[in-house]
Amino acid sequence: MRLRAGVRVRLKELLKEALGEDVKYVPSSFDIIGSREGAVAILEFPEGAPDHVKRAVAEALMRVHRNVRLVLAKASERKGAFRLREYEVIAGEGGTEVVHVEHGVKLKLDPTKVYFSPREATERVRVASQVKPGETVMVMFAGVGPYALMIAKKQPLVEKVVAIELNPEAYRYMVENVRLNKLEGKVVPVLGDVRTEAKRWYGACDRVVMPLPKGAHEFLDRAFLCLKPGGGVIHFYHWAPERDLFSEAFRLLEREATLRGMSVRILDARVVSEYAPRIYKVCVDALVEPEV
Ligand SMILES: C[S@@+](CC[C@H](N)C(=O)[O-])C[C@H]1O[C@@H](n2cnc3c(N)ncnc32)[C@H](O)[C@@H]1O
Repeated sequence: MRLRAGVRVRLKELLKEALGEDVKYVPSSFDIIGSREGAVAILEFPEGAPDHVKRAVAEALMRVHRNVRLVLAKASERKGAFRLREYEVIAGEGGTEVVHVEHGVKLKLDPTKVYFSPREATERVRVASQVKPGETVMVMFAGVGPYALMIAKKQPLVEKVVAIELNPEAYRYMVENVRLNKLEGKVVPVLGDVRTEAKRWYGACDRVVMPLPKGAHEFLDRAFLCLKPGGGVIHFYHWAPERDLFSEAFRLLEREATLRGMSVRILDARVVSEYAPRIYKVCVDALVEPEV
């Protein structure tokens, strides 16, 4: 859930008098992960925000969103293969595990132990709505399962969704989420590295989803190999600068296709979100077919 502009303004307004000049440190957006039963809010404060401002913002936020029981501030960039970051507890109490509900999909997770972004819900629905009955779908870098579960939920006639994840904590949540959503048998969680685990599905998939903008290109060979001999669709995520959003992603896909005697037709190319100032997470949907 993203904070609505109205609430944001209200927060600033609420705090204007108490904070005076320091109202400039009130973050311009934040995430709430969880549900009515309990949620965690995650804020990103501008550099130099004083502690009393952080506390005031967190307390105001908990007054506006009664389900938020714990407020965390981002304390580092995302790091490492698991794409985790450090957090600082600003206010509230209780654990960091929540059940987030996204378009009817229940996702149990702990944002301090696994990657999860509630801002990508629309993107997941967009990908899921393209899946056709009878498809076998490979979701690489599956996290706690949001893409795989959204696909199986939106397309109940999907043959199978294979979901590979390296982080044991995320895998454990994914297994639990498959059960929570009653999608056993449809979603197949796999613990391990896409480099080695994808082999079991070489030549077996109609569609491959690659939601790891930092480095998905290193796994494009595996994605091509997973597709059926007649080809299929790859949803390829990549980071790109504002001045040239798609050329590099197109080039990477075309190079891999050429190496394998395949052709690539771009079905769609879009900006998913802003990663950093003037750097965007983009997604290219590519139809891969044998060259005639
Ligand atoms: C950007 S997160 C996306 C997670 C999930 N798809 C989502 O949208 O919430 C990337 C995930 O890929 C996992 N990962 C990184 N390298 C991997 C690899 N070589 N094989 C399998 N999973 C990997 C990380 O642990 C992380 O959970």
